[in-house]
Amino acid sequence: MNNGIQGFEYQEGVLHAGPIPVSAIAEAIGTPTYIYSADGIRSSYRRLERAFSPLGAHPHYAVKATSNLHICRLLRELGASMDVVSGGEMERAWLAGTPMEDIAFAGVGKTVDEVRAALDGRFSPLVGHAERFGRIEIESRGPVGMFNVESVSELVRLQEIAEDLGVAAKACIRVNPNVDPHTHEYTTTGKDKNKFGIDADLVPGVFEDFAGHPMVDLIGLHVHIGSPVRRVTPFVEAVQVLLELIEMLDQAGHSISLLDLGGGWAVDYVAGESPGIEAYAEALVPLLEEPVRRGLKVILEPGRSITANAGILLTRVQHVKQGRTRRFVICDAGMHTMIRPALYQAFHFIWPTVVPVEMVPREFSERPELPGLHECEIVGPICETADFLARNRPLPDVSQEDLLAVFSAGSYGMSMASNYNDHGRPAEVLVDGDRAIVINERQPLAALFETERVTRELELGVG
Ligand SMILES: Cc1ncc(COP(=O)(O)O)c(C=O)c1O
Repeated sequence: MNNGIQGFEYQEGVLHAGPIPVSAIAEAIGTPTYIYSADGIRSSYRRLERAFSPLGAHPHYAVKATSNLHICRLLRELGASMDVVSGGEMERAWLAGTPMEDIAFAGVGKTVDEVRAALDGRFSPLVGHAERFGRIEIESRGPVGMFNVESVSELVRLQEIAEDLGVAAKACIRVNPNVDPHTHEYTTTGKDKNKFGIDADLVPGVFEDFAGHPMVDLIGLHVHIGSPVRRVTPFVEAVQVLLELIEMLDQAGHSISLLDLGGGWAVDYVAGESPGIEAYAEALVPLLEEPVRRGLKVILEPGRSITANAGILLTRVQHVKQGRTRRFVICDAGMHTMIRPALYQAFHFIWPTVVPVEMVPREFSERPELPGLHECEIVGPICETADFLARNRPLPDVSQEDLLAVFSAGSYGMSMASNYNDHGRPAEVLVDGDRAIVINERQPLAALFETERVTRELELGVG
C-alpha cells in the first residue's frame, strides 16, 4: 500500500504491524484497541528533525497528540523535549523522564494550582504518591523550562505566583498572527477571532509593560496557527509576522532569543493531501537562517506529524444493518474511542484487516477504485447520531465479527477518548520489532465507578 503510514502493511491481504498480524493482537487483548508502531514513531521523529536540522530546531513533542507515558518515554529516548497544555500533561511528561527544564507549558487556561506545580515540585499533585508513580525527588524539582503565555491576565498571574514562591520563570508570549491556516474551523487557532494567543499588534505593549520583571523573564515568542495545516503558505505568513515583531521588539530594546513555531504540520489522511514535512522546512529555513545565525533559537511542537500515521485503531464489527437507504456497519469503536470524525468531520481511511489480495487498497483514498464495494455508514454503539467513524464510505463486504482498521489514528485518538455511555477506554499496544507490548490495559468497567462513592459531606457553614 502506497501511503504515509508508518509500520503497518498488508502482507498477502493480512494487515500486519511490523511482523505481527494485527488480528493476533485483537485475539489476545480484544477490541477496540489502539496499536502504535515504535519504528513508525522513530522514523517520523527523525524525519522531522532532519528536515529542520539547518535551523537546529529542537522538537518539543506535543503530548496531547498521544499522551501515553510509554510513547512519551519513547520520544524522550529519541531526544525530544515536551510541550504540555495542562498540569496533567506536565506530570506525564515528567513521569516519562523529562527534566522540568525540557518541558514547555502552554495552554490558555492555566490555573493557580497548575502554575504552582509547574514552578515548585512541592505543589505537584503527585506528592504523596511516590510508591505508585516513582520519581521520588518530586518535592525538590524546579520550574518548567518555559511557559507559553496566552494573555495579559495569565502573565500577571505567573508573575504573582513566581514572586510569591521566589522561583524565577521564563516565558514566551504566544502571538496570534491573524493568519488563516485553511483548516477546519474548530482547529483554527491563529485568527483574531480565536481564543489563543495575544494579537500581534498588542505584543509590543505587553513587552513594554511586563518585560524586565525580576521573576519572569520574557525570552521569546510562540505561535501555533492550527492543525492540521495542509499548506505551506500560512506558516510562512505567520513566521513573517513574528520576524517583524522580533525586529520591532529589538528596536525597542527587548531582545528575543527564542522562537517557538508550534505544530500543525499535516500528514496524509488521504494520499497526497499533505505537502510533507520537508516542504514546510524548505519554505521556512530561508526565512529563519539569518536570525538563527545571529543567535535565535528555534523550537517546534510537533504532535500529529510524529504519531498520527504510526498508529491504528482496531475495531470489531458488531452488527451489519441494511436499512432502506443506508447500510450501517456498527462497530465497538465510535465517537467515545475516536472523536475526530464526529467533532471535525475528519477523514480516516478504514479497511478490513483481512481481505483478498486484490482488495488491498493501493493508497488511502476517499473512493478506492476496487470492485464490489458498498457505501456504508461506519458507526459506533453510542446513542448519538454524530457517532460515526465514516459516512458514505465504500467498503468491501464485511460481516459480524470482522476486524476493521481505522488508519492514521495515532494522534488525537486515544488522548481524546471518553467514557461516554459508560464504556471503558480502549487498550493501547506498542509494537516494537517483533514484540507487542501492552502499554495501557483496557480500562476495567469497575474503574469507572471508583470515585463515585459518598465519601463525606461538605461542611460549608451555611444554613
Ligand atoms: C499549542 C500547540 N502546539 C502544538 C500542537 C500540536 O499540533 P500537531 O499535532 O498538529 O502538530 C497543538 C495542537 O493542538 C497546539 O495547540
